[in-house]
Amino acid sequence: MKGRLEELRRQAEAELSAARSRDELSAIRTKYLGRKGLLTAVLRGLGSASESDRPALGRLSNEIKEAVSSRIEEEIRRLDEEAKSRSLQAEKIDVTLPGRRIVSGNLHPITQIRNEICEIFAGLGFSIVEGPEVEFDYYNFEALNMPKDHPARDMQDTFYISDSIVLRTHTSPVQVRIMEKRKPPVRIIAPGKVYRCDSDVTHSPMFHQIEGLLVDRGISFGDLKGVLTSFARQVFGEKTRLRFRPSFFPFTEPSAEVDIQCVICGGSGCRVCGQSGWLEILGSGMVHPEVFRIVGYDPEEVTGFAFGLGLERIAMLKHGISDIRLFYENDMRFLSQF
Ligand code: DAH
Repeated sequence: MKGRLEELRRQAEAELSAARSRDELSAIRTKYLGRKGLLTAVLRGLGSASESDRPALGRLSNEIKEAVSSRIEEEIRRLDEEAKSRSLQAEKIDVTLPGRRIVSGNLHPITQIRNEICEIFAGLGFSIVEGPEVEFDYYNFEALNMPKDHPARDMQDTFYISDSIVLRTHTSPVQVRIMEKRKPPVRIIAPGKVYRCDSDVTHSPMFHQIEGLLVDRGISFGDLKGVLTSFARQVFGEKTRLRFRPSFFPFTEPSAEVDIQCVICGGSGCRVCGQSGWLEILGSGMVHPEVFRIVGYDPEEVTGFAFGLGLERIAMLKHGISDIRLFYENDMRFLSQF
């Protein structure tokens, strides 16, 4: 019996040494120590041993049971340790590696220039308002001193929805809507989309304008020059030179177009400015007395100036962009530069 016990111990130890998993270890536990296990069976047979051998055999079998059992525990701990260090190794984080770049979007260049210009005028005391893109003929033309037969209403440029409804061709109708609703003084800018049936490298059927209007007692052309000079210098640089060139708009009198010294050649003449040294950036003028009469303001009492500028044009000049269509193509190589 002693020989059988020693043999079981060696056999168990050999199997334990070969075991590679928790499953194998618990199979060994069942095989030797379970209710029907090999060591258990030997212990059960103890009764048939002689009286004198029994105590020694009992001690030996207990000792072997203990030894096998504690060896199993030890092997389990060892496997757990190994598994833990393997996973630590595999999940190791190298904090010195460069991080993964998070690709972030940015505001569209037109949105950026719109925000920039709105902020400049907000700083000059203008508040921001909006008007509808689908507009009555009345606000787009009639109330801006362009009656039905006026040559400035070029059929070819206007998208008509019906006889009396158009896609607005400029942001100027917002002037009229605001003056109808508010008493002077008025000091607003109105950014938004406008539409004209026109398309080439510098024209798009949809583009963006910002309209400006300032009405109060005693407003003069000097105020117009001061505000627009301050604006242009904030956008294009403190040293920017401006030129106010006589022009015509039905809703202003006198009217002026504003040029800045060419941002490409600095005024000496180049392809971009057509050798003139100047670039047109906006239209402006003193609000026509007829427009005041139409909205119910007294032109003897108040005066004011208005202006309108194209955002695409300003952005193109500022960034040296030569084709307006780049703004609408959603090409990331273009957009990510802003
Ligand atoms: N509405 C004009 C256009 O789209 C621009 C303009 C010119 C607006 C003179 C004005 C202005 O308010 O006074 O070409």
